[in-house]
Amino acid sequence: MAEKVFDWLEERLGLESIYSAVLDRKVPKVNWWFTLGSASLFLFVMQGVTGIFLMMYYSPSPESAYDSIQYIMNDVAFGWLVRGIHHWGASLMVITVFIHMLRTFFYGAYKFPREMTWLTGVILFLLTLGMGFTGYLLPWNQRAYWATTVGTEIAGTVPWIGDFTLKVLRGGTDISAVTLARFFSAHIWILPLGILLLISTHMYLIIRLGISNIPGEDE
Ligand code: HEM
Repeated sequence: MAEKVFDWLEERLGLESIYSAVLDRKVPKVNWWFTLGSASLFLFVMQGVTGIFLMMYYSPSPESAYDSIQYIMNDVAFGWLVRGIHHWGASLMVITVFIHMLRTFFYGAYKFPREMTWLTGVILFLLTLGMGFTGYLLPWNQRAYWATTVGTEIAGTVPWIGDFTLKVLRGGTDISAVTLARFFSAHIWILPLGILLLISTHMYLIIRLGISNIPGEDE
């Protein structure tokens, strides 16, 4: 029965050719450091899934943001767990992506023909940091408020464009309801869409070019 269903689908979708193009590739003998890219991908998906669940209860306004988080922690079934995974997952993702970046750097995997894989990676790293920065404000507690005050203040010290950057980030001169709305939209739409687009390009390049060797080792 299962075989019949598969054959029916195979005839119409060409599943086997997708499988062989995407997954059936020769890989050189590698080590555990080569698993960090996949770990980053796993963490991104996990952040996406837990984030979607959090969004069912989170309310991004200065009047209700703090209370909605309290509600998630105390009243929603497993809310504490989902928020905990999202909270620790964020730090873990930054660390994992960073060590993955160090691995590709020290193994010289950024060299020809993988320059574009590296460049998309650099933007992915910056967007990942952006997710952490924008997410930190959302609980709208004292720590969130003052961390964002300091963070945006630092952006404001950049020569020439500092003042402009600070106003764009805050949506004015002070941290306000506009800042919260802006950070929320960046956190759930702009940055994740950017990450999704870049991960797709990153993955396409890895499938196209294959994985690099450990320097100095034969294939
Ligand atoms: C969300 C972030 C990221 C995801 C999901 C991701 C995913 C992956 C995956 C699955 C691989 C193949 C397996 C591996 O080598 O580990 C890979 C390879 C690679 N990544 Fe990333 N990556 C991310 C960020 C970065 C960053 C920040 C850089 C560098 C700035 C980078 C540069 C590279 C390079 C150069 C390769 C090719 C490695 C080789 O062929 O040996 N990636 N990435």
